[in-house]
Amino acid sequence: MIISFLGHACISIEIGQYNILVDPFITANEKTKDLVDIDALNPNYILVTHAHQDHILDVEAIARRTGATIVSNYEIAMYYQAKGFTVHPMNHGGSWNFDFGKVKYTNAIHTSSFPDGTYGGQPGGFIIHAMDKTLYIAGDTALSMDMQLIPMQYSLDLAILPIGDNFTMGVEDAILAADFLGCTEILGYHYDTFGYIEINHAHAIEKFQVGGKTLHLLDIGAKLEV
Ligand code: NI
Ligand code: MN
Repeated sequence: MIISFLGHACISIEIGQYNILVDPFITANEKTKDLVDIDALNPNYILVTHAHQDHILDVEAIARRTGATIVSNYEIAMYYQAKGFTVHPMNHGGSWNFDFGKVKYTNAIHTSSFPDGTYGGQPGGFIIHAMDKTLYIAGDTALSMDMQLIPMQYSLDLAILPIGDNFTMGVEDAILAADFLGCTEILGYHYDTFGYIEINHAHAIEKFQVGGKTLHLLDIGAKLEV
């Protein structure tokens, strides 16, 4: 799997011939709007962790052009199906074998409403198992004891965790999350996009190092292979 960081909580994953886009928030993100062209993205699937604006902003524009299947919880899937998009509904604890690999929709502790107030179900994250690799995308979440369940079933090669604090886990809690997950390779996301979630990169990397873990912080468009 080749993972590209497209700013905030937006991740693009290449799995063989397939492209999977997660939580696109690009055109109103000051950090990405001049660097990432949404018309150059050609996902087969768009995975949505929850309905907040900073995770769904560019879903419709990209799905309309590409015909990508939108994968999310039942409420978010029905919201997009009613608008004519192709969807695959899931819910917490459920897995599905897609053509690119197996996906599980995991628990997250957060909220989930669309910008217009429409109920967006309960928020989640994803475990993706493909090509003998396993990736966990936590979504926006607090530190949760439920994370301890994940290594009972999966050996994670990479965990993508929010580290920006205020709306989600901060660095200290993300280090505990990595312990719960039994994963030493962490890609940080959901930081620096707005004033509430600015972090000190060097301090964050050092704290993970002290905890025996590697925190990867990628520039916009940079890639990481697992
Ligand atoms: Ni959120
Ligand atoms: Mn968010």
